[in-house]
Amino acid sequence: MCGIVGYTGSKNAVPILISGLKALEYRGYDSAGIHIVNVGTIKRTGKVAELEKSLPAAIDGTTGVGHTRWATHGPPTEANAHPHADSARIIALVHNGIIENYAELKAALVQEGIVFASETDTEVLAQLIGKEFSIKKDLESAVRAALSKVRGTYGILVAAEREPGKLVAAKLGSPLMLGIAEDGYHVASDASAILPYTRTVIYLEDGEMATVTKEGYRIEADAGPVQKKIEELEWGVEEIQKMGYEHFMLKEILEIPEVITNTLRGRLLSDSAILGGLRDVLPRILKAKRIIITGCGSAYYSGLIGEMLIEEFAGIPAEVELASELRYRRFTMNPKEAVLIAVSQSGETLDTLEAVKEAKKHGMLTLGIVNVVGSSIARATDAGVYNHAGPEIGVASTKAFISQLAVFVLIALLLGRNRELSKIEGERLVTELRQLPELARSALSLRPQIESIAATFRSTRDAYFLGRKWHCPIAYEGALKLKEISYVHAEGYGAGEMKHGPIALIDPDFLSVILAPRDSVYEKTKSNMQEIRARGGRLLALTTQGNESDLFSLADAVLSVPLTHEALQPLLTAIPLQLFAYEMARLRALPIDQPRNLAKSVTVE
Ligand code: G6P
Repeated sequence: MCGIVGYTGSKNAVPILISGLKALEYRGYDSAGIHIVNVGTIKRTGKVAELEKSLPAAIDGTTGVGHTRWATHGPPTEANAHPHADSARIIALVHNGIIENYAELKAALVQEGIVFASETDTEVLAQLIGKEFSIKKDLESAVRAALSKVRGTYGILVAAEREPGKLVAAKLGSPLMLGIAEDGYHVASDASAILPYTRTVIYLEDGEMATVTKEGYRIEADAGPVQKKIEELEWGVEEIQKMGYEHFMLKEILEIPEVITNTLRGRLLSDSAILGGLRDVLPRILKAKRIIITGCGSAYYSGLIGEMLIEEFAGIPAEVELASELRYRRFTMNPKEAVLIAVSQSGETLDTLEAVKEAKKHGMLTLGIVNVVGSSIARATDAGVYNHAGPEIGVASTKAFISQLAVFVLIALLLGRNRELSKIEGERLVTELRQLPELARSALSLRPQIESIAATFRSTRDAYFLGRKWHCPIAYEGALKLKEISYVHAEGYGAGEMKHGPIALIDPDFLSVILAPRDSVYEKTKSNMQEIRARGGRLLALTTQGNESDLFSLADAVLSVPLTHEALQPLLTAIPLQLFAYEMARLRALPIDQPRNLAKSVTVE
């Protein structure tokens, strides 16, 4: 969602800020702006390219801040875009998060005669900082005094004309990091904006404030100065570039075999798994009477499969809750006997983060399955497993979803082998896991076939995705993929639910995508196909290799992926569904990597 960039150093800040804003585009936004100290502020609605086009030719300055905004308080207009200034225009502020008490603070400032230029909560903070800066000697004191009056979440970056080389950053609940380069310092809410300039970073923690000048930086918390660990970003710059692909989504789907390899690397024994991140907490997890999995969007759907994997192989009762619901629920279990697993690609989804905090408050052990190293959820959880899927830029989760499933298999295997899972069954899972990258490659080779199937169904307005057992969550995920990037109305159901309502809509224009691998529920799923066929519905069947001929007479089109262990099959069946959604959106010439209204990382509630 909103993104922050900042730079102070010896180079021209303008191209650095613009490239940073472009790198943040994938997170979703509706307007953007930059402020160059002692030069001015330029804001535009729409794409960063619009902002770039409207920059004066000779704009130059060595300190500045920039922002991509995803509207919350007030529509996406130039006035509401960041950076915001105080009325005297002595400071410029960019802000991610929400100032909850902005209405009361604003009312008090209006009473004092301050005139507001926007409808945003952020401008209230800008006015407060400006007011404090008119009486305080330095910018950091002014920021600290203003922040003591606000309630809510923030990642902020402030610049002032009176202290031209200085930036002040502060964080509470919204990510911010400092990048250390040879020519100066960068600040950003997301590593992708910093990566082209430096891989050396410092992550700010909640309650910390950084004062950054061209010469150095100082970080303070309430208790005084803090010595921070300097860390190296593990991602390479080519991973955040399209590298000749038409879309990030396609590049990321095609990376799946390699991603599975990376997720499994160094983590497989002959009959079990090693997960270094869980080593210290393993005894406590093994004693758990219940595992609660939480997440949002695709991460939640991966959790539905995680639940089955943990129950099936480790025999520990598990349940999955949407993070946006779990955080408001009463925690009834004994916290010492329950473990929370939060799943999040970005590690920044606010509802998931809040669910983690709530569980921690209740004394529960919290684990993360997170892709972004150093992200808020990775830091908030007690322990966890990183996906190692590399950056995912396309809004629709593809490779990260598959890697989440792979991590769940590893966790279930590890827990299972420490409980009742037999050595033989452990060995069988490991053998099949090792073959997965190759089998995923074979699933990807379906692309030309999927392209022509998508052409057949291109004018479809409605689709059901139906599956049973391991494939019920894949049906949900397939429907989500199709609707989010191709805007086709799609719903996922457990195939058994079809007769309880959904079947009423089946007619010759209605497409049903059936997940029918040759598994323990195959015959039942096939019956659902017959019921749809009998009502004249259109059918796309996804099965396993060798079984195609059994479905030719029932379906309009049949796709098949290699057969693997039933519990691993979802890692393969998800791939053609991602490609189908991609091809449908491509045929409709839609903005695949940044679909309308969606954001990669949902950092507001
Ligand atoms: C957004 C993204 C989805 C993602 C979900 C959860 O809706 O568009 O792709 O699945 O957030 O994100 P997370 O980063 O927590 O996995």
